[in-house]
Amino acid sequence: MSDKPEKFIDENGLRLDGRKLDQIRDIKIEVGVLARADGSCYLEFGKNMVIAAVYGPREVHPRHQQDSTRAIVRYKYNMASFSVEDRKRPGPDRRSTEVSKVSREALEDQVFTEYFPKSAIDIFVEVLQADAGTRTAALNAASVALADAGIPMRGLVSACAFGKVDDTLVLDLSKDEDNYGQADVPIAMTQDGKITLLQMDGHLTPEELKTGLVMAQEGCRQVYEVQRQALMDHYAKMQDANEDETEAPSVEEVITAEENEASEDVNTGTEEVEEVDEEVAGETVEEVPEIKENVPEEEDEETDKEIVEEPDTEEEDSHE
Ligand code: CDP
Repeated sequence: MSDKPEKFIDENGLRLDGRKLDQIRDIKIEVGVLARADGSCYLEFGKNMVIAAVYGPREVHPRHQQDSTRAIVRYKYNMASFSVEDRKRPGPDRRSTEVSKVSREALEDQVFTEYFPKSAIDIFVEVLQADAGTRTAALNAASVALADAGIPMRGLVSACAFGKVDDTLVLDLSKDEDNYGQADVPIAMTQDGKITLLQMDGHLTPEELKTGLVMAQEGCRQVYEVQRQALMDHYAKMQDANEDETEAPSVEEVITAEENEASEDVNTGTEEVEEVDEEVAGETVEEVPEIKENVPEEEDEETDKEIVEEPDTEEEDSHE
């Protein structure tokens, strides 16, 4: 683990990683990365790397968890042992159980669970690399994966934390800011600003909380734009692929086309034969004189004549 930095914000008002106070880390989202899941998403939020998979709506096991009026939503957050500096002991722990619970609650309300009674919607998130803010990164990925699975939702959920370092509010905490800062407040909200997750670690004044919420709202709006764009890009690609498939002929179309081609060949063949006959007939009539002209006897006569005439001329010339 790195040591506590002396200062988190420099004289130019920039943070240790060069970001402004209200600047979030870069986000990269890829939709539909897993073939076996109904919906999936790979997401990078700064150095955090997470992958989310959604299954369902599907049968509930164990059955006693079934709700006859709506679908149940289950959320499993897991940190890979290699995702953190010191190897994490594999398997669930108190922290992952807590993160799973609050994340499920942050998403559940957005899903139209009443459409799928007696079924389950399962969300799994694996943290491949952790660098502070994994629960918010995981929620962002899970939300996109739910949309990718075609689960009817009121809207996407976007998440981002704010906190306090050097008595100053900052958006989207980095690892050092999270570990050694004065406060960490992960927040998730819907597009219309409804808060679905709010936790707080540390101390803030009511005024700071209010200001921080406004900062986080802007952060979540930016996250939402990336989520929305990633989904739109993915479906535009899928649409293109579908159009290409539509353009490619089906087996039936290929067979019909081949049959038509074959019958056209037969027809064309007949036409060609007729044309040839007509041509031959025409030529026969027209070319009769030519053939007559080319009768070997006449040819010989003419050739003879020429041969005979030529020396005559030459002779005449030579006489002259
Ligand atoms: O990740 P998030 O900020 O949502 O949760 P946290 O409990 O505040 O953890 C902050 C960071 O501590 C994580 O993102 C990890 O980088 C790190 N951590 C760790 O190194 N080992 C753990 N067992 C848990 C967290």
